[in-house]
Amino acid sequence: MVPRAPSDCLSLSITMLRGVLLLGLVLCANSVNYMDICLNGKHQKVVPGPEDVLHGQCTPWKEKSCCTNNTSAEAHKDQSLLYNFNWNHCGTMSDTCKKHFIQDTCFYECSPNLGPWIQKVDSSWRRERILDVPLCQEECDTWYRDCRLQYTCMDNWHTGWNWTSGTNQCPTDKPCRLLADVFPTAKDFCEKVWSNSYKYTTMKRGSGQCMQIWFDVGNGNVNPNVAVTKYYADKLNSAGDTRVGLLLVLAPLVLLWAI
Ligand SMILES: *[C@@H]1O[C@H](CO)[C@@H](O)[C@H](O)[C@H]1NC(C)=O
Ligand SMILES: *[C@@H]1O[C@H](CO)[C@@H](O)[C@H](O)[C@H]1NC(C)=O
Ligand SMILES: *[C@@H]1O[C@H](CO)[C@@H](O)[C@H](O)[C@H]1NC(C)=O
Repeated sequence: MVPRAPSDCLSLSITMLRGVLLLGLVLCANSVNYMDICLNGKHQKVVPGPEDVLHGQCTPWKEKSCCTNNTSAEAHKDQSLLYNFNWNHCGTMSDTCKKHFIQDTCFYECSPNLGPWIQKVDSSWRRERILDVPLCQEECDTWYRDCRLQYTCMDNWHTGWNWTSGTNQCPTDKPCRLLADVFPTAKDFCEKVWSNSYKYTTMKRGSGQCMQIWFDVGNGNVNPNVAVTKYYADKLNSAGDTRVGLLLVLAPLVLLWAI
């Protein structure tokens, strides 16, 4: 070891400080914003904002919404103009069941809290989709309970329909069956119906780690999904930080070893 002059020591310290500063800067620059984002879909707004008169079941999102009042009104109609999708493709869907699909539509169109689960897609009608949004157990279980005695012909409602009439009809080789036969479990239903947009979990409402399509605001209640999104956003960012941090710590070591 060559004895170091005090000036060497000072310059080494400065170099190290610079390194730490750089590490911090890179970690900050590396963090992705997942909060307050609207899906780049067919009807969503570009940025979320307040909507004074959201319709019916979509009102919980009015403080900060990705849907317009028009979209929220359409979301409540049978075979709405949003996607021309017909809930009544195997006879009339009961209102008890349909209200969950309306709530799901409000959630998809209006929620600014889907950032961590947005994925790019190659599709004619949208640039992005949601994938594996962790749904609270009660949300999925009640949806399935209220719909299991309805009828459907398809286990993935995103594809495979006969659209020649302008709305989705069952293909001739797909007979209508009890929904509980098409989807034997609640998990099966919530995950498959929209091709894995949702992920079934055993986490409970209010746990802060799963999403609710149903919630009340007002009386001091806030949208519980904001905290859930923050939780997963921090997790994703800290995983990214660990990778970059490791790289930044290892790279100089490798350099030192090389010289
Ligand atoms: C909203 O709907 C009304 C009719 O209900 C229509 O006149 C208007 O153009 C729509 N606005 C947007 C932004 O789509
Ligand atoms: C939505 O709001 C716009 C402007 O405030 C209004 O003209 C329109 O009629 C509303 N649409 C519905 C469906 O309420
Ligand atoms: C699609 O629906 C049309 C009528 O709307 C029907 O004539 C045709 O046979 C159907 N095709 C399939 C594959 O189900």
